[in-house]
Amino acid sequence: ALRVAVFASGNGSNFQAIVDAVQAGKLDVTIELLVCDKPQAPVVARAAGAGVEAFVFKPKDYASREAYEQEILAKLQEKQVELVVLAGYMRIITHVLVEPFAGRMINIHPSLLPSFPGVNAIDQALDYGVKVTGVTVHFVDGGLDSGPIIAQRALDILPDDTADSLAERIHRVEQELYPQVISWIAADKVSIDGRRVTIESRASSIRTVD
Ligand code: GAR
Repeated sequence: ALRVAVFASGNGSNFQAIVDAVQAGKLDVTIELLVCDKPQAPVVARAAGAGVEAFVFKPKDYASREAYEQEILAKLQEKQVELVVLAGYMRIITHVLVEPFAGRMINIHPSLLPSFPGVNAIDQALDYGVKVTGVTVHFVDGGLDSGPIIAQRALDILPDDTADSLAERIHRVEQELYPQVISWIAADKVSIDGRRVTIESRASSIRTVD
């Protein structure tokens, strides 16, 4: 089974969805490590509850971004991690991790990229007044939410939506889409040619989306 590490900074609902899919036998990967930059984040307790080893650190304890990323890289190599899954990890990632994991690091973002990259994408979409937004899963490159897109799901913004009501629908879509994309990668169905990503067959053990 594909050896996965998840990076998260907050609530960890996406981390939990991946754990749940693995435990339900719907996703054939092993979660080797959680990496978290916020010791108080709820995702840390979720990892403990799931019996997933966690590397929790405070960026302030390190001289630079590169310094803590070197330590993370060593952990990933020690655990022989094959795929890095960013799930609400709210930090820029440098060449230290991007290069060794080129084509093997993915991110989920709560908008239809390239619209609304960066932080607060849900608020950005509401404030802009777009009528359709959604969720994007993409490979990570050196830029901000800029890598090749693997999958997207669109969602209507309703007239009476608030940030909370829209976020709830977006999170529900994320929690279905992310385990599904990981299952495609684990089954070696995702190939990349420049910016064009193709998924060999949509057939998947997880059928919660489509
Ligand atoms: C998710 O909505 C994810 O798309 C977003 O953070 C949330 C984390 O939720 N990521 C970004 O905005 C990245 N720029 P979670 O901790 O409950 O999984």
